[in-house]
Amino acid sequence: MADIKTLSEFIVERQSDFPGSTGDLSALLTAIRLAGKIVSREANKAGLLADILGAAGSENVQGEAQQKLDVYANNLFIRMMRTQGTVCAVASEENDDIVHFDNGGKYVVAMDPLDGSSNIDVNVSIGTIFSIYRRISTGPKATMEDFMQPGSAQVAAGYIVYGSSTMLVYTTGHGVNGFTLDPSIGTFCLSHPNITTPQEGSIYSVNEGNYYEFSDGVRNYIDDCKRQKMSARYIGSLVADFHRNLLKGGIYFYPATAKAPKGKLRLLYEANTLALIVEQAGGMATDGTTRILDLKPTELHQRCPLFIGSKGMVQKAMRS
Ligand code: AHG
Ligand code: MN
Ligand code: MN
Repeated sequence: MADIKTLSEFIVERQSDFPGSTGDLSALLTAIRLAGKIVSREANKAGLLADILGAAGSENVQGEAQQKLDVYANNLFIRMMRTQGTVCAVASEENDDIVHFDNGGKYVVAMDPLDGSSNIDVNVSIGTIFSIYRRISTGPKATMEDFMQPGSAQVAAGYIVYGSSTMLVYTTGHGVNGFTLDPSIGTFCLSHPNITTPQEGSIYSVNEGNYYEFSDGVRNYIDDCKRQKMSARYIGSLVADFHRNLLKGGIYFYPATAKAPKGKLRLLYEANTLALIVEQAGGMATDGTTRILDLKPTELHQRCPLFIGSKGMVQKAMRS
């Protein structure tokens, strides 16, 4: 046990990265990790639940169960952050509008409470994605202005992947660290200190079912990946695809398609979050032409194309 460092110990230790820190961010991370542990527990039960419901019959019931976990995770993260008190408002994939807490908290959070939700009922990895910003408006309530900050203004960004183990990976702009949940003690322990992503990789992750919907440039890049005999890996949970590529080296891309000219993924709680993490790990994230973290959001649920991962691969995709 001697060398184990828990997430709470790590957070306290790193508070000195922020001179004058009040501990509010640390407290917020504590709320997020607690919610993550509870979602992890529920996700682990999902298979069991689906079996029970499955005995009653239809696929619809499982579809409902899956939706329930989306809503459950959303409500849980919102409740934990509301109680914690340093967040004054949340933008979530699951809520059309900003959720206000009216508590004068100094942070706002953008989140995807359950990413890859179509994978829940088939026992495939899912995740949670969160971005923390300092509130910049001064009125009684947070405003859109607080959420329209570029990704480069994030105070912290992280994700939790509920996979073969549950991991929390986050950055406060001082490198990236990963913590694995030890279920026997219910604690996240530092397992991946100072994560750096390889500059080149041999994995490409894209939904190739959309191949004929992509631009010529994107198709050329995919063709080139095949010529190079790269490995195609696509889970369909952004968090899980990203996490694998971060550790092993690779590129994930969800480009614009003929039907969806802005792609599918959301800027505030998918692209920006992972862009900060990948950059902090030495990788790169663009929308094909512009650095993701430089984009100026105009809408809460704005979509953007995303090319993210090992620097050499992202640069090559941009040239294609
Ligand atoms: P969510 O479950 O939060 O709606 O996100 C799903 C996203 C992302 O996780 C994944 O990479 C992508 O959708 C998969 O989309 P396709 O099925 O179109 O490939
Ligand atoms: Mn998502
Ligand atoms: Mn989601």
